This record gives sequence, structure tokens and C-alpha cells, in this order.
Amino acid sequence: MRRQSVAAIAALLSAHAACVAAADTPASRVQKLLDSLTLQEKISLISGTGFGTRPIPRLGIPAMKMSDGPVGVRSPAPSTAYAAGVALAASWDTALANEVGTQIGRDARSRGVQFVLGPGANLYRAPMNGRNFEYLGEDPWLASRLAVGYIEGVQSLNVSATIKHFAGNDSEYARHTSDSTIDERTLREMYLPTFEAAVKEAHVGAVMSSYNLLNGERTTASAPLVRKILKGDWGFGGLYMSDWGATYDGVAAANAGLDLEMPSGRFMNAQTLEPAVRNGVVSESVIDDKVRRLLMLASRLGWLDGQPPDLSISRYNQGGREVARKGALESMVLLKNADGLLPLDIRKIRTIAVIGPNAHPAVASGGGSAHVIAFAPVSVLQGLSEKLGTDRTVTYARGVQTYRALALRTPFTTQRGGGSFGATVESFPEATFSGSPKSTRVERSFTIGAEGFGGDPDLLTLYDSLPPERASALLAPPESSRGPSFDRWTAWYDAAAAGPRTIFVQDTGGYRLLVDDEVVIDSAHIPKAMMRQTRRDLTAGPHKVVLEQTSGPDVGRAFMRVGIVESADLVDPVAKQLAAQADAVVVAVGFDSDLESEGGDREFSLPPGQDELIRQVAAANPNTLVVINSGGAVDVTPWIDSVKAVIEAWYPGQEGGAALAQLLTGETSPSGRLPISWERAVTDDPTFANYYYNDPMHPDRIRYQEGVFVGYRGFEHTGVKALFPFGYGLSYTSFKYSNLKVSPVSGGPDLYAVTFDVTNSGARAGADVAQIYVGAKSPRVPRPLRELKGFARVELRPGESQHVALTLNARSFAYYDVKGSRWRADAGEYRIDLGRSSEDIQASELLRLPRTLRIAVGD
Ligand code: BGC
Repeated sequence: MRRQSVAAIAALLSAHAACVAAADTPASRVQKLLDSLTLQEKISLISGTGFGTRPIPRLGIPAMKMSDGPVGVRSPAPSTAYAAGVALAASWDTALANEVGTQIGRDARSRGVQFVLGPGANLYRAPMNGRNFEYLGEDPWLASRLAVGYIEGVQSLNVSATIKHFAGNDSEYARHTSDSTIDERTLREMYLPTFEAAVKEAHVGAVMSSYNLLNGERTTASAPLVRKILKGDWGFGGLYMSDWGATYDGVAAANAGLDLEMPSGRFMNAQTLEPAVRNGVVSESVIDDKVRRLLMLASRLGWLDGQPPDLSISRYNQGGREVARKGALESMVLLKNADGLLPLDIRKIRTIAVIGPNAHPAVASGGGSAHVIAFAPVSVLQGLSEKLGTDRTVTYARGVQTYRALALRTPFTTQRGGGSFGATVESFPEATFSGSPKSTRVERSFTIGAEGFGGDPDLLTLYDSLPPERASALLAPPESSRGPSFDRWTAWYDAAAAGPRTIFVQDTGGYRLLVDDEVVIDSAHIPKAMMRQTRRDLTAGPHKVVLEQTSGPDVGRAFMRVGIVESADLVDPVAKQLAAQADAVVVAVGFDSDLESEGGDREFSLPPGQDELIRQVAAANPNTLVVINSGGAVDVTPWIDSVKAVIEAWYPGQEGGAALAQLLTGETSPSGRLPISWERAVTDDPTFANYYYNDPMHPDRIRYQEGVFVGYRGFEHTGVKALFPFGYGLSYTSFKYSNLKVSPVSGGPDLYAVTFDVTNSGARAGADVAQIYVGAKSPRVPRPLRELKGFARVELRPGESQHVALTLNARSFAYYDVKGSRWRADAGEYRIDLGRSSEDIQASELLRLPRTLRIAVGD
């Protein structure tokens, strides 16, 4: 034993010495290591272990650690939570993206993390995608500029960024089985450019696969996507890793170009690959290429000799806090501001009511792997109270109860008009629910999930107010916290009086909910949202409520809740009273990490009760403003006309409350601009008809039939007006554009300079985002009317002007020519539009391309 370890140490030292010999280039050092590795060791390096790679101590190859991503270094927690990806996109600030990346790099170094699993770069195709908040909006040019900034920042600290999820992961429902079916032109023009820029410009260290299939193939085993496009066309020299559990076939994945299977070698393991190499099904050079990529990356970023946590960097990152605050501040979008309600005239205000489920505690980030537990996230309530100090009063009410409390409060009984509280659960062997159940049990409430109060203040209050026999059910452990997939829950709901009821189900699995034998929510084939709701008029008396669970959820059934609430009971009367007594009201609503998260989609409507809350508060106080947390557009039509101001705050990170207070009180003028188009009705979205499975012959296929006409490109194409267009956002000041000029850049082939001046024509300091769109006047193929190809965020004092110069290159005019397998910009006229949004065009110039330009996929 002892002799062995001495021998091992000697081998290690000699290998190490050999490797660091002065003459070694990185490539030769890596080659020597490769030559010293056994096949088994090589295979162990391409199959991860948890959040990291395996070490080879014999050769001094260290383990390399990973952490999610993308809005903070998630573990070890607590950490700094930055504004979400979509919020970063709303800042339109590439320098900020770089600062965020740099701070994330520091957070990683302080934790000994080599790979940050971010940025998220899938496209915002429709508001329902549960992971939109992680991504960078609907426009590939905007997204790619931010991704490049972020990656360069992270990698400047010698930490690898990992751009994800490659590719077509643009919805979260059924994400393991859905097949994104996207034609090549659309893929190249819309869904790939951010990845392409990350590879070609930012030299990203790693790319992560998606879960979904793309054009019929697993993206962990797709030679056309990985070998051809990623590594061939773009020359990606880094590491292509699988998403967690997205590998299904070791040999196919190995041959198609997957370099690292995460989180373990379930398929790319010695058992599969050793015989495959022996039999020639996988060449050893294919395995070598994967190992070389890992070791070269480690060499490039200085990890080959280990990169332990940098203890000189505090994990409580003060610089990170400042950047987090800047991110929150620059990203919030002022959507409406009637009668100049904002900034609040705090000289006249004595009392502000802060109301709503998102007012406190802070809603810093969405859910799933991107959720960061922050050190001290600042809530809206806290931020505003701290800002206003002791001279003014900030009152607070949650306004609507938590869904867990509402579900537990619903008096379900096991029998019509009686029995015990709870529901009868029958377990069936199949989703047809036919024949006799395998077993039957009684649950004491129509919920499964976390026990105890879980920091939930409403539950605690409920516990104190219920009769003991019901209160005890609150804390009883669920009989089955996971439950087999094919459970049928049956309960009775006794309506004391006839009237409207809000009925909701919170569950990420497949199910259907029936009331009196009628299906009222159908999530069986397409689990459309983690929280679904419907409103029904119920007669007085008992109603049968049945939930059939048809499939397990994507990430474990942590909880399932069913609730029925009388519409009149949704809103806390105290909230209305506080609203009536205040000089102004801030209503903080939206989603949170349970309601908008990886592993499922969300509804376009705000969660149950929130529309009602806003309406009732607005009726009590004319000076009502609404602040929304969401990863994208929500349905504001039920109340937008009755409130004066609306701010989209996204998931603003840990400093959100402080930043919001700064904006509300006018210390800073809002400068966020929408990185998405905001539809009036969800059906207005140009992708809506194609968002859910839409191929009758292939039930798991999502055909992107709208092609390149996504977001503003689609709204213009269909002629439907967005409620708030892409690029839109109000300010407390105003801006003017002048002197738009477009001219060829001398010396640069096919380069054009676009110059103009921006002037702050208002009375306050503020930042504007000037946007340059390009549109072909007579395109030879169907093309969007205009596409974003440049932008500039400029900060100006009142009266100040700034000259802006942007450059357009051949790609700015090009579409993807499928036949020619290259980019092509046809000779002819192009409109160069300077606008404040995709619809608010302030000036245009014409540019004539004298000849057709052809650009190779590798350029
Ligand atoms: C997510 C990835 C994440 C990984 C590790 C997966 O479920 O899709 O984005 O990086 O888990 O947490």
C-alpha cells in the first residue's frame, strides 16, 4: 500500500516534470498527457461526475468543477444573484454584460469553479417558455452582443463560460421528448447566431446541448449540428457537453461529437466505448479528440495544474453587488406612465402602500437550475422603505394568499357532502385509469409537497386560525410525497353559495382536472404550464373534483396543489383598505421561482388572483402602479387601463428592490427597453399556432412554421400590432435623433458607417437606446421588413448630445442561402432605419449594395 503510493507519487512527479519542461508548448504538453493516458482513463475524462470532471491523479490532471449559471454562480450558496438574462438583454448594455460576466468570473474563482454553466442563449419565441428569463430575448443580434460581452467577462478570469442549450430549446413543456423541427435558413438566421458569435467572437470554452431533439435527432448525437455546424463551419475548438441526462446512446454521441457526458457516464462509459473502440465502431482518435479538447481548454485557462478557490476574493462580492444593482436599474422597463405619476413626487407623498405577492420577500430570480440563493436579496418593500426612511410611511399587505395556503384552505372532503377532509387517491397501473386500482388511500388534503410552513407566513397564519382537526393536516407528512404517475384523486367541494370560482392546479406533470365529470383543465398530452387556472360558475352544493395524473413531471413531483377559491375571497380586504388610505400604491405581482422555472412552461395570464388584486387596488386608489416579475410578456389587458403606471422588472436579481426604489423616486430615469415584443393577446403572437405540438402525424414535433418571422419580424409580417413593440421603453426625459448618415468605410471591404446624433431634449438625465434596423427593399426571398443590426445605449445629461458611429458589414444585409450553403446579400437597395423601437422609426436612409455579397459559413 505504502510502496504503491510512493510509486504513484513518483509517477506523478515525473509526468508533471515532463509536462512542464520548458520546451513544452500547450499542445505538446497535452499530447504527452494524451500519450500517457490509458483508454480507460480517457473515457473516464469524458464522462463527468456530478458537477465536474474526474481527475487523473497519476498524471496530475485535476478535477474541473462546474456550477450553474447563468445569472450567478449558484453553488456553493449563498451567492450573488444578478439580473436575469432577459433583463440583461433589456439593458441593451454590452459593457454591462461584460461587467456581469467579470463578476460572475470572480464569484466562480472564489468558489474554485472552472465552468460556469451559462449564458443561456435560446431564443424568446413565445411568452410561455418557462426558461425565457434565463435567455436573452427575441432578437439574435441583440442576444449575440450580450452573450459575447458576458462570455468575454467570465473568461477574462480564466473561467470557462458554457453557452446553452444547443439548439432549439425554445419551450420547456415536454422538453425531453419534443422535437424542434426548424428549417435550415430559420435555424441559421434566428436560432444559431448567438451560439455562432459566442464561438467565433468570444471563443467560448464550452457549449451545452439541449434536451429536446432537433430535426429528429438528439442534439447530443447530431453530426449535422455538432460535427458539421459547430465544429466544422464555425471551427469550435472547445468542449461540447451534454445537458444533464440528455445523452441516450454512447456510441452515437461519441461519433457525433459529444465531448463530455454530464452528469455521469451513463452512456459514454468504459463498458460501451472500450468494446466499440476495439471493434472499430468508434475510433480511438475520436476519443482522443474529446480529451484533447478538455485538456487544451484547461491549458488555455490555466487549470492544468489545478485552480483552487481563490481565497483572496470574497464570496460576498461587493463589486458584484454593485453590478447586480446596475443590472436591475438598467433593465427595468417603464411600459406606461399616465399623468406623469412617475417619478413619484415624494414631497407630496406621506404614505405609500406596497401590496402584492411579489412585494416581499424579494423575487430575485426564476426557478430551476438558474435559481440563485442570494445573501441578502432586497425586496420591493424593503427597497422602498429604506429609500423613504422614517419621514414617510410604507404600509404593506400581501393581498392574495400563497397557493399552498389556498389549496389547503379549500375544504375538500372525501365524500359527497361529508366524509373526512381530503381526497381519495386510487393508483392505477396505466394512464387509462381503467379496471380496478392497484391501491387506494386517503390524503388529508388535495396537495402533495413540502411539509411544514417552509417560510410561508400565510400558512402559519392559517394554522393558527383553523380548527385543530384541520390544522393537524397541515403539518402531516404526505402519505406519498412522490406518488406513482397514474393516480386518480377524487374529492368533493361543497359550494356554500352559487357564484364564480377560481380553480387552479399547480403541477408540472401531465394531468387532467374534471369538475362534475367535465374536463376543465387538460394538461395530459401537453403540460402547458406549472400553474393553470380557470374560472367557473358553480351552483350551490357539492361538486365532484377529480384529478387524473397521466405522467410524471420532468423534475420530480415536489408538490401538487389543487385549490378552489370564491372569486370574492381572492383579495384581502386589508389590502384594499391600505390602498384607499395611501397617496400612491405599488402593486408587485408576477411569477416567482415556483411559477416560472425550468422544467415546465407558464401561462400568459398572471397567476390566480393577481388580476383581481390589481383591479381592486386600482379601484381603491387612482395612483396605482404595477411592477411585474416575469421572464417575458404577460396579459395586462384585464387591468392596464385602470392603473397609471406599469414597470416590467423581470427577475432583477438581489438588488431589485433597491433599484426599483431609485427609479420610482426619480433618482434615476428608467432606461430598459423591451428585448421582446409584448402582445395584447397570446394568440397574437406570430408563433402561437406553432408553439405547441402541431404535427398530427408526429405527436412530439414542434414545427417552427413561422420560419424567420419570430417576434417583431412576425408581428410586422402578420400585420398584428404588438401592445408594446420590441425596443420600446419610456423614460422620464426625451431624446431626439438627427444627422443620420450612411457611407462606405474607406479601406474596409463591404463595410458601411452609420452615424447620427442623439440629444437629450428633456429636463432630466437619462439613457436612450438608439436602434438601427436594416431591411431589403425588394428581397428575392421572403425577408422581415426590418432587422436589428446595430444599437447604442447612450447616457446623456439634459441638453447634451452624443455622436454615435456604428458599423454594418456584409452579414448585416445577408440572409442564409440554403442552396449555396452560405450567406448572401443581394445587390440592390436597403433601408437603414434609425428608431426608438421596431415600430417607432425616426429617420431612414437608403443604401445601395453595388454587387451581391457571398459570405462563407466560416467567416
Ligand atoms: C439544465 C441546465 C443546467 C443543468 C445543471 C439541467 O437540467 O437544463 O441548464 O445547467 O441542469 O444543473
